[in-house]
Amino acid sequence: DLPTTFDEPVHIAVIGGTGLQNLAGYVPVALLNPKTPWGYPSAPINILKHNGVPIAFLSRHGKHHEIAPHEVPSRANIAALRHIGVRTIIAFSAVGSLQEEIKPRDFVVPDQIIDRTKGIRPFTFFEKGVVGHVGFADPFDEKIAKVVRECGHALAGDGVVLHDKGTVVCMEGPQFSTRAESNLYRSWGGSVINMSALPEAKLAREAEMVYQMICMATDYDCWHSSAEDVDVEMVMGHMNANSANAKSLVGAVLDKLSKEEHSDMVMGKHWEGMSSGMIKFM
Ligand code: ADE
Repeated sequence: DLPTTFDEPVHIAVIGGTGLQNLAGYVPVALLNPKTPWGYPSAPINILKHNGVPIAFLSRHGKHHEIAPHEVPSRANIAALRHIGVRTIIAFSAVGSLQEEIKPRDFVVPDQIIDRTKGIRPFTFFEKGVVGHVGFADPFDEKIAKVVRECGHALAGDGVVLHDKGTVVCMEGPQFSTRAESNLYRSWGGSVINMSALPEAKLAREAEMVYQMICMATDYDCWHSSAEDVDVEMVMGHMNANSANAKSLVGAVLDKLSKEEHSDMVMGKHWEGMSSGMIKFM
């Protein structure tokens, strides 16, 4: 039974996606379940110690993968993390590949997003009289991306293949795309497709947090002439088969970031003032 309070601010968080529901090998020190004005997060937040530095881990789809992508309480998730002190988020996601060279089990560090959600997920903290507009030209964080790239390439000997850049198409789901849509996204220059980058990335930006996604390809969606069309078993199969690599990559990134816990990079100094502190995270 872990404590349900934790006194120190936790600056770094990992949001785990499908196939990354926990982070093994760290010392659990607390389990927090803050109620935010937007409700409870997807699951209680695990606080783990890594080289003496606290790290928050939140499972996006719930403890037992019971929350569908369109049902993820993203505002509560981001608000809860911000409330406990988090300034940098590493967000993990299983994705379909839209490009031949991005093979199942390859990692991608995306630098762009195309929004194909349907506007039905609550997607902003700015409402009900709180008017704000944040820049979103570059939805991810180049400095953290650089750290992830270096960590990924250093694991090449363990079979980690990592692509340095990419555009993630975020679709509504929960159904997968039609073949016409899949080909359309390819023609737009999409690299990978998921259902989870948004509104998470937008909300993190509104909350003045550093946000970088790490994608792991699990399928070729349905555009590829010689690969099977995506289904859930395919996504889970590749995710499980490659979870050791996913965990080593996230572990290496945490090694690096935990050493810079108080740096301007991790603390997101460059985003301060984006939303002028208009949102109260409790
Ligand atoms: N997540 C994993 N594979 C996917 C796909 N092909 N489309 C949307 N989300 C995905």
